[in-house]
Amino acid sequence: MSAISRFRARLISFELDASDGVQMVHIEDGVLSLSGSKIAGVQSTAEYLGQGGDIEACEDLRPALIMPGFIDTHLHAPQYRIMGAFGTRLLDWLEKYAFPAELAFADAQYAAAEAEHFVNTMLANGTTSSQLFTTTHAHTCDALFAAAAKRNLCLIAGKVMMDQNAPSGLLSAAEVCARETQTLIDRWHHRGRAAYALTPRFAITSSERQLDYCRGLRQANPTVLVQTHLSENPEELAEVSRLFPGAKDYLDVYESYNLLGPSSTFAHCIHLSDGERSRLFDSQSKVAFCPSSNLFLGSGLLDVAEIPWDNFSVASDVGGGTSLSMLTTCAEAYKVCQLKNRTLHPYELLYAATAGNAKALSLEQEVGQLKEGFWADFIVVDAEHDIALRKTNWGLEHLEGALFSLIMFGGRQNILRTYVAGELVHGGAS
Ligand code: GUN
Ligand code: ZN
Repeated sequence: MSAISRFRARLISFELDASDGVQMVHIEDGVLSLSGSKIAGVQSTAEYLGQGGDIEACEDLRPALIMPGFIDTHLHAPQYRIMGAFGTRLLDWLEKYAFPAELAFADAQYAAAEAEHFVNTMLANGTTSSQLFTTTHAHTCDALFAAAAKRNLCLIAGKVMMDQNAPSGLLSAAEVCARETQTLIDRWHHRGRAAYALTPRFAITSSERQLDYCRGLRQANPTVLVQTHLSENPEELAEVSRLFPGAKDYLDVYESYNLLGPSSTFAHCIHLSDGERSRLFDSQSKVAFCPSSNLFLGSGLLDVAEIPWDNFSVASDVGGGTSLSMLTTCAEAYKVCQLKNRTLHPYELLYAATAGNAKALSLEQEVGQLKEGFWADFIVVDAEHDIALRKTNWGLEHLEGALFSLIMFGGRQNILRTYVAGELVHGGAS
């Protein structure tokens, strides 16, 4: 099963240099060699031929480019079908659209069918690793982990923990929820490419008792991740201070239950005070910047200039976000940053969506770059697919402009193929 496959294409990936500048690693005419599920070689075609390589053994994908698969650090699988729901902001949107969509997952058969469909749609968008919310129902979590395992896909997920302020069908009492969570951790954490993330939805929907269980679960399972929401919307902030009158600020609620740290991802973080921001960064916690969602739900504009690369990630936040495509997510990120006077370079955007997000999830030695020994999770991209891309007259010889056009105008239609662990999981026609 570890036959070598080779592809000839333009190869690009991104990394940080010693002074935290983003660099593109670019091989204009290259050969990517796989050995089973891993990358075995990344060379120029000249180098490959110089070593006696057989060009006939390479599938020629030119003029397409190969890059690492995208990584999404924050989204909600069960909200996929409610993207683009009209007319509300966060708290009303949860009540009117998100909670009803999640209630439908009480039906285990529906949850299993949706998990398959969702994973295939992620792959069609070129996303090969993700950290996501499921629902309160343990079977939704099982279904998503199972769908990922079937494809040898890297997935971080968790059962949503809520015991207040949501429809009763989505609540589970703190101790029951903790027991179910531990069972899921035992079943899935570090099984193949899966990892478990404790998933208290946000401060509003967890009692102090539940957060205390959460702290206990983390202590008992120190390698699990944590994912939640923080400081997204002004009404949310007001509700958190009403519910937690003893907390000095929103972050303090999570801090008091020991939920911060290098493997904790906090989605949004738009309305933080300076003090919250510095405590969050000092703890090495990660921010998931969700530009599409923040615009769509009118939540606000994150000041990305304030966030060091070490604490930064970018995410779709579907279904508050309106696209599963990390290209589209990057386009929205660019526009939000323009409004905050920080111009993100296309290499910075693509770094964030690949190697940067890998680092945020502690996967930087495994995915996010085209590197020998890394998982062969990569995408074959048609960077000139769309008429808008050609119209810019920035051919691939002007790669910077072409990649910027790819971000601004591209999307799912540009992903010709997706490979996970060396296997073709989407596309195939050249
Ligand atoms: N805060 C709590 N739950 C959610 C959710 O499902 N989506 C978003 N965008 N914010 C939340
Ligand atoms: Zn979210």
